[in-house]
Amino acid sequence: MPADRNTKLVTARFGNENARSIATAESLGAYATLRKALAMRPDDIVAEVKASNLRGRGGAGFSTGVKWGFVPKDSPTVHLVCNADESEPGTCKDRELMYWDPHLLIEGMIISAHALKAVHNYIYIRGEMMREYAVLQKAVDEAYQKGYLGTNILGSGVTCHLTVHRGAGAYICGEETALLNSLEGLRGQPRLKPPFPAVKGLFGNPTIVNNVETLMNVPFIVDKGGAWFAELGPGRSGGTRIVCVSGHVNKPGVFELPMTITFRQLIDEVCGGVWKGRQVKAVIPGGVSMPPLDNSDELDVPVEFDALQTDERIKPVMVRPGQQFDLGGGRVLRTMAGSGGVVVLDDQTDIPKAVWRIMKFFAHESCGQCTPCREGCGWLEKVSRRVAEGRGKPDDIELLASIAHGIAGNTICALGDAAAWPMLGFLTKFRPDFEAAIAAAGKRKVA
Ligand SMILES: Cc1cc2nc3c(=O)[nH]c(=O)nc-3n(C[C@H](O)[C@H](O)[C@H](O)COP(=O)(O)O)c2cc1C
Ligand code: SF4
Repeated sequence: MPADRNTKLVTARFGNENARSIATAESLGAYATLRKALAMRPDDIVAEVKASNLRGRGGAGFSTGVKWGFVPKDSPTVHLVCNADESEPGTCKDRELMYWDPHLLIEGMIISAHALKAVHNYIYIRGEMMREYAVLQKAVDEAYQKGYLGTNILGSGVTCHLTVHRGAGAYICGEETALLNSLEGLRGQPRLKPPFPAVKGLFGNPTIVNNVETLMNVPFIVDKGGAWFAELGPGRSGGTRIVCVSGHVNKPGVFELPMTITFRQLIDEVCGGVWKGRQVKAVIPGGVSMPPLDNSDELDVPVEFDALQTDERIKPVMVRPGQQFDLGGGRVLRTMAGSGGVVVLDDQTDIPKAVWRIMKFFAHESCGQCTPCREGCGWLEKVSRRVAEGRGKPDDIELLASIAHGIAGNTICALGDAAAWPMLGFLTKFRPDFEAAIAAAGKRKVA
């Protein structure tokens, strides 16, 4: 049956302050599915996850079951790493998930580790999340005491160890290979791919990196079956989805919703509409790395992964007028569901200033390893700043577009794309705002 707005999986225990203690969590069903999973063959769990159409909630929306299938069959040592670095501006779901229901994450990790035959496993948590770290560590300690973690779990012969590791506050350490370097004690810089982590990851061993929300869905798949989970969502996207809405709405928050909900419904019906009686100017659909939507029928597109990439109501991102951005193989870039961070900007928003702020973030967070990103993000920040501050030059729109185009697709990791795509997206859909800012050079005041 398709999910409706009352379908709550990973947020079912939200609001229950006691649910993070293991006794209450168990009374609410925690670790019940683990017993079932331990009696299953690892390959059967992987098959259920494949059938579930679970897609990664960390940003790329890649099929979890397919990714698990990339681990070479004969690997003696495999690791599972939970990516809890959550630093994408606009995204605040993993923090809430870990705070309210740490045992669901631990259960999801033990089941997933069993499926992958992974013994030494890790949660890499963003360093600033002190509260969630304390909650998680306590929950891990409780799970060890109860025999859910450790050797020979519940007499099954399965061993699973879990270490919670704190990052040190770098956005780039959310990129999976930078995360693995950081976990190894190296500088947190992305690795060249291939080899992908599923083949050669942590300490050179096959490693699966999955997002917090992704792993928390696994117990539901094992409990009720992959087919049940697949039916909850439309098309190739199984389950529900968490969106975190911030910005100019009356009721911002973290919501678990069916993926058929449109952005317009999300803003008007879930978030109480745009604040101060204003209209939408732009919506960032999945963290600031993603090209924006404008206030047209683009808002009638659902929050689902494929819709955001292919729905023809969303205008393609342009490099310059008449030239669509080519994702390779002739595929155009519209936008993506990303990390679920939805930022609503009202009609009073100073778009050039908002874009400058986004570029400042990426210029600051670039690890500096590759030239197009290191230099290009710096230039995007400088040029967008002068446009925003009323010092723009007539050619600056063309200059910004050509810098962004020079970065996209030419870097070691996707941070370069993450800066270039929204730049091109804002220039495509809000060009008059940039033109007006440049025309007003010398007279423009920035708050
Ligand atoms: C610059 C950058 C930052 C990222 N930050 C995160 C993050 O904070 N959390 C996350 O889960 N994925 C993040 N990702 C995506 C990860 O590299 C990886 O794809 C993801 O953790 C895989 O998990 P999933 O398949 O469950 O989505 C980031 C990617 C990039 C390029
Ligand atoms: S794209 Fe940027 S963040 Fe990624 S490796 Fe290159 S310099 Fe570092």
